Amino acid sequence: LDNGKLVKWEGKMDEVHSTISSTDEYKPTLLGTVPHMDEKTALDVLDSALNAYEYGKGEWPTMKVKDRIKCMRNFVELMETKREEVVKLLMWEIGKTLPDSEKEFDRTVDYIYDTIEDYKQLDRDSDTFQKVGGINAHIRRGPLGVVLCLGPYNYPLNETFALLIPALIMGNTAVFKPAKHGVLLLSPLLDAFQKSFPAGVINVIYGRGREVAAPIMKTGRIDVLALIGNSKSAIALQDQHPYKNRLRLILGLEAKNPAIILPSADLDLAIDECINGTLSYNGQRCTALKIVYVHEDIREEFNKRFAKRVDGLKFGQPWEEGVKLTPLPEPGKPAYIKELIDDAKEKGAEILNAKGGETSENYIYPAVLYPVTESMRVYQEEQFGPVIPVKSFSDIQDLLGEMAKSNYGQQVSLFGDNVDALAPLIDVLVNLVCRVNLNSSCQRGPDVLPFTGRKDSAVGTLSVHDALRSFSIRTFVASKDN
Ligand code: G3H
Repeated sequence: LDNGKLVKWEGKMDEVHSTISSTDEYKPTLLGTVPHMDEKTALDVLDSALNAYEYGKGEWPTMKVKDRIKCMRNFVELMETKREEVVKLLMWEIGKTLPDSEKEFDRTVDYIYDTIEDYKQLDRDSDTFQKVGGINAHIRRGPLGVVLCLGPYNYPLNETFALLIPALIMGNTAVFKPAKHGVLLLSPLLDAFQKSFPAGVINVIYGRGREVAAPIMKTGRIDVLALIGNSKSAIALQDQHPYKNRLRLILGLEAKNPAIILPSADLDLAIDECINGTLSYNGQRCTALKIVYVHEDIREEFNKRFAKRVDGLKFGQPWEEGVKLTPLPEPGKPAYIKELIDDAKEKGAEILNAKGGETSENYIYPAVLYPVTESMRVYQEEQFGPVIPVKSFSDIQDLLGEMAKSNYGQQVSLFGDNVDALAPLIDVLVNLVCRVNLNSSCQRGPDVLPFTGRKDSAVGTLSVHDALRSFSIRTFVASKDN
């Protein structure tokens, strides 16, 4: 999609294979192809976004609010007609279960409608007059410029759009690069973009980051880098920008969210939540629980019951009833998870569940590892996959000290009885992370709540409400009070 038009790509193509397969028979099938762009094409695409934003010429940044809303509404209505197609591609391309794929689609549609409503309110609230110090100020809210937007493979629709939609509605123009896995499922929506937005407002690039995204950053013409993914890519792209002070960042990055299970916890509930928290979408969520701290007094019982529950989870195709575990889209992931398991075993951990670490070509069965220590890779790294490190603790103060050393600070799940008595602990935790989940696993939603993190976990805040503000700036016209 370039300059508002779907352009037929005549150059080299990249093949996109399916993620799914059965456990005993791995047959990735060709699902489709996407353009393999080069630097020159990427820079042409950037020109479209720049022209559509051009001062005094681009109609989008100065368009009336009601007209921008009309375009967005038109888009989401067309999008809704593509539900079945997109949901199928979500299952095939990234192995997300049917209920989760449907949820991702519906959540995205809701996100767009909520954004439209919040934008109307924001516009009413922002467009104000203030008389102060002999000045009449007409305050308003305006766009930031051209946004380079990169979405992740685990939420290729929802999180990509959580960046793109607020950026567009605030009057910015955008170039977006879909993730390598989960790229085809955006194709059915490109036509809807074409039909809904003026030329150049939204543009797509495909290809390797260093071949297409890096050259765009190098031009220094990008005003906002909006990325959900890993810090390595974010830093590499920032480094390309020649005028770093001009670049705004909106980043959703890694996390290592812990579960803390106190002796007073309802163990059935804690186990249920830890199963979901660690293994929804095979642990490939930035909000997944990536380490479990269990109090020494209940450690034995927790470990025994938790490991048994993990072994009872059903592995299969995303559309099968009751399936929890599905194949992994990243080809190197099973081998990486295996490395983490082997490293932990060498350093003294055991696999607590019988099926833990069983591999097929594109899957590895979740392993529950105990006792995990700080020297192990699985303790240090964001595994983003099916392996669950468990560590016990006796003194909560020591544990808080340990958590304070983490490079991440997104969320925590705290399991214990009597929330009032836990208040002092909650007060400390909420200053270590940005969301404390009481007796429940971590999650991003509902999408109207702030989603962010401390340290290396995020820059800026996303939510329907916050993203509109993140992608805009308050400006004003001042006239003298004569
Ligand atoms: O991968 C990170 C996502 O923000 C997780 O979102 O908590 O809704 O699954 P979720």
